[in-house]
Amino acid sequence: MIAAMDVQVTKTGKSKIGEVDFNNLPFGKYFTDHMLEVDYADGEWKTVSIRPYQNLSLSPALAAIHYGQAIFEGVKAYKDREGNPFIFRPLDNFKRFNLSAERMRMPVVPEEIFMEGMRQLVSLDKDWIPMKNDYSLYIRPFMFATDEVIGVKPADTYKFMILLSPTGPYYSAPMRIYVEEHYTRAAPGGIGFVKAAGNYGSSMLATALAKEKGYDQVLWTDPFEHKYVQEIGTMNVFFVIGDKVITPDLAAGMILEGVTRDSAIEVLKEMGYTVEERPITIDEIINAHKAGELKELFGTGTAATVSMIEELRYKDYTMKFDTATWKAVPAVKKMLTDIREGRKEDTRGWMFKI
Ligand code: COI
Repeated sequence: MIAAMDVQVTKTGKSKIGEVDFNNLPFGKYFTDHMLEVDYADGEWKTVSIRPYQNLSLSPALAAIHYGQAIFEGVKAYKDREGNPFIFRPLDNFKRFNLSAERMRMPVVPEEIFMEGMRQLVSLDKDWIPMKNDYSLYIRPFMFATDEVIGVKPADTYKFMILLSPTGPYYSAPMRIYVEEHYTRAAPGGIGFVKAAGNYGSSMLATALAKEKGYDQVLWTDPFEHKYVQEIGTMNVFFVIGDKVITPDLAAGMILEGVTRDSAIEVLKEMGYTVEERPITIDEIINAHKAGELKELFGTGTAATVSMIEELRYKDYTMKFDTATWKAVPAVKKMLTDIREGRKEDTRGWMFKI
């Protein structure tokens, strides 16, 4: 742990908190009073600073803009019933962040900078943690290359930052999903398993085309046959088929190892469901639907939490569901919310006390 004196803290003279309507918080629109910033140069991380949220001054030759050495994480802070602030599983996000860093040939961020820096920042802005159901403080750690040179090479300098954004649910209504068969998110040996900014940039076109057809997101399929399902735009995906819950496995390194995905698997098992992590094809999903066995389907993600899918479209075949009758998804959502908001005992040490 780094001591408080190791973080240079400059507090804002005037909080913006009064300007924000905490009953209406679209995802990622508002930012708290402070941000964390630390630069990497000469092979080491420099002084960690927390200062008022503000614009950065950056060179137009910034390496990250040109070649995409940029990664991020999504984490959330909650308050329990007594108003004590907690962060949900930040160590898991820390580990994934450094996996992303290694894959993108960026320096790893030391645990004390990531964890203690996040703790101090959230502690300073803890009044921004909403207490409304389904609301939270979204934490966005990110790192990008800051070299001012347009030659293609791993940069020598980087900036690691953390922003905080009070937010409501990413998807407030059940979702409509389009199975993508032309564009590809990830291939073996690629960067599908890491949270690189480019993964999201490359998803924009397919998602925009799906939106034109009336869908919220695409369900990505494998790059060879477009048969094996991978993940949805901002979420991992689960299918309740018969009495089993199936979710694509991580072995091929093409999907994100979601922290909410892992949490959902754990609570589903605790609730008595059999969970299978394995390859699953769109044909298996359609056959299950035709046989009346496809009961529920949902996405998981930090931003999305647990989101119901009320419609799945593959070519001309549309699967529609009456989510009001579902059991598994509301139960998972409730269990996770109860743990996060302190109504259910945290037996796994998921809640990191601030
Ligand atoms: C998250 O769930 O935290 C994400 O990063 C997904 C999205 C908002 C990009």
